Parts: sequence; structure tokens; C-alpha cells
Amino acid sequence: MERLDKFLCDSGIGTRSQVKVILKSGRVTVDGKPEKDPGRKIDPDKAVIALDGDILGGMRRTVVMLNKPAGYVTATEDPVEKTVMELLPVEWKHLDLKPVGRLDKATEGLLLFTNDGDLLHRLISPKKEVPKIYYARHEGQADDGDVQAFAAGLTLRDGTACLPAKLEPLGPGESLVTVCEGKYHQVRRMMASRNMTVLYLERRQEGTLPLGDLPRGQVRELTAEELADLEREISAK
Ligand code: URA
Repeated sequence: MERLDKFLCDSGIGTRSQVKVILKSGRVTVDGKPEKDPGRKIDPDKAVIALDGDILGGMRRTVVMLNKPAGYVTATEDPVEKTVMELLPVEWKHLDLKPVGRLDKATEGLLLFTNDGDLLHRLISPKKEVPKIYYARHEGQADDGDVQAFAAGLTLRDGTACLPAKLEPLGPGESLVTVCEGKYHQVRRMMASRNMTVLYLERRQEGTLPLGDLPRGQVRELTAEELADLEREISAK
């Protein structure tokens, strides 16, 4: 639930003081009935809010997480492949959500979407060093030499230098990998540079935000607390 005046500001119709005047003049309706109370609590996903009869809601700042299944490309459109956009509920179409970074077609797990361009750029910027934790099943067995090579900053087979990263062997052919950047096929290429071909990859955490028990293929909005934690993490750097 959110205050009506905040919703109206986020919709871009005016500043907080302009919104106050607009509300006073009775031009705003909630579910078809005129509403003048700026503090009225509304559920933006359910309430129909209109200004002079035009329905609003296009630019409400929204951050959602998806547990991405394999088989979908991270793109807003694709002529051939299924895209992650198809996994968002149609009711959210007007929110203009964009994926934050990308997961490969075969990779599963946590993928964020937002319509806040500034937040999006801060989350994917290597300068902000937001750690992303991946679970990998792979050929071979990671050893101390691999752990140290990751920590020192790997050089990929094509000569690309990576920032220091963390490799935690979990057992034969299973590891956790933490990286703070998002180069193309990064984890797969890092593992390959140490002769461990990745067979399965799942993103389990992004910054302070774990994937948790969200079922595969499902989406949910971040809670205010999760969003505040994430914001705190990126603004601290
Ligand atoms: N690294 C990869 O190799 N693939 C992903 O999808 C994400 C990180």
C-alpha cells in the first residue's frame, strides 16, 4: 500500500506541492470516485487512478525479481527466442520494466527488473562492486590454486582481465562463484580458464538480496526493506 500523493508524484504529473493542488481541485479519481486526500492509502497494482479521466500508473518506480528458468534470453525483444519479458505478468506491462544486467539463455536464478534507470545503472556498474553469487555445477574439481587464481583476478583465455572474484568449492564438481562485474558469459569463461566447463549455472544472490524460495518462473516485487538494503549497499560505495 502506498500514499496517493506519492503515487501521483511517481507518475510524473507534478511535484509534491503541485500534486497537492491537483488533488484539492478534485481532478483525481480512485476507482472512479473523486479523491482529495493526499494520504489515502492505495494498492497501485489494484486501484485504478485517473487524472481528468486518464488512467495513470505508467512510471511507478518498481523493482521486481524473477527466478529465471533456462531457455529464455535476457532481452526486451528477440525475433526468434523466448525472452524473459514473457515471464512478467501482463498487468505489469505498463510499468516499462527492463532487466538489470543479463543471464545467459541457459542460466537460471535471480534476475532483477526495474523501471528506475538510475538504479539499473548503479546495480550493473563494476564501480559499485555489487557482488553476484552463482552456484555452478562443473566438470573437474576446484582446488586451492583455482581459489587463489580467482582471488588474484583471472585472465580469460582471450586475454580479458577480470576483477578479483571468490571461488568456494562445495564438493566434487560444485562451487559457488562470487563476481562483482558482468562480462559476457563471465562465470562460464572464468571457470573454463581453469579447465572447468560449467554444466549448470544459477544466480543465487545479488548484493544483499538472496533469491530465497521464489519458485522457478515466478516473479515478485521487492519489499520496501529489501529495496532499502540494496540502495544502502550501492550508495555506500
Ligand atoms: N556468468 C555467466 O557465464 N553466465 C551468466 O548468465 C551469468 C554470469
